[in-house]
Amino acid sequence: MKGLDADAIRGDLGEFASHRLEEFEAFTEIESTNTHLLREPSPSPGRVRVAITDNQTAGRGRHGRTWQSPPGSGLCLSMGYTFARQPQNLPALTLAVGLGVTEALEDVGVAGVLLKWPNDLMADDGKLGGILTETRSLTGDAIAVIAGIGINIDIGNSPEPSVDGEPRRPVADLARYASVLPPRHALAARMIDRLCRAFADYESSGFAGLADRWSGRDWLLGRRLVVETPPGRVAGIGAGIARDGALLVDTGTGAPARITSGSIVTAEAREAQP
Ligand code: BTN
Repeated sequence: MKGLDADAIRGDLGEFASHRLEEFEAFTEIESTNTHLLREPSPSPGRVRVAITDNQTAGRGRHGRTWQSPPGSGLCLSMGYTFARQPQNLPALTLAVGLGVTEALEDVGVAGVLLKWPNDLMADDGKLGGILTETRSLTGDAIAVIAGIGINIDIGNSPEPSVDGEPRRPVADLARYASVLPPRHALAARMIDRLCRAFADYESSGFAGLADRWSGRDWLLGRRLVVETPPGRVAGIGAGIARDGALLVDTGTGAPARITSGSIVTAEAREAQP
């Protein structure tokens, strides 16, 4: 498979992202684009730094898991952004990033990808990708954020799920999901464009302005699910998200439970409507 074309990606960026791009690095292979950006200097406030590869040797997922994909089978992109002042409700930034990625996919003709709270991208009920958001405190009130996105492009007949340590669940890739496979450089450029906007919008108005768009792509809505949360497991039916990005779960005991931090343990197929 042909490697990433760094010049094509840069040349395809929109004006908004081009003006904010402080550093852009494309690697043939690297241990992890997130780890790389965590070690490098953070961009100036309001600017972005991008690292991209299609082969990570030590990719990382949430909760210390690994993110594995055969060389050349996926797109791994990390974007660093520096907030001059820590925004309220920073955990919901991952939701804004997920929304930006689904919109970038639409920009290149891949419609219908959904979001599984808090950080998964779902296509035909399989995991198409995931997001790992990490932070680093800087001097004063500033905080640097690194959002890493992994997307399965063509994983062939790989039987393994992308993230280990999780119960076995179906994996999706663009080769099977999309009617036409988008060029990698175009997908990468649209992701950078969309995520630049997502960071800037989040800085000015937080998540509330994005909640309706997110809700329209909610994969968990109406599904029977179990969520692992710091105080314990919560079981019920996905009831959407709140304006601050909290997951709402109808437990059948009055107002929906509000979950601000957790992982989905199981989520069943939606019950058929009568
Ligand atoms: C998850 O599903 O748990 C999140 C997976 C995130 C993977 C991406 S690939 C680019 C970036 N670099 C990493 O090491 N991880 C993220």
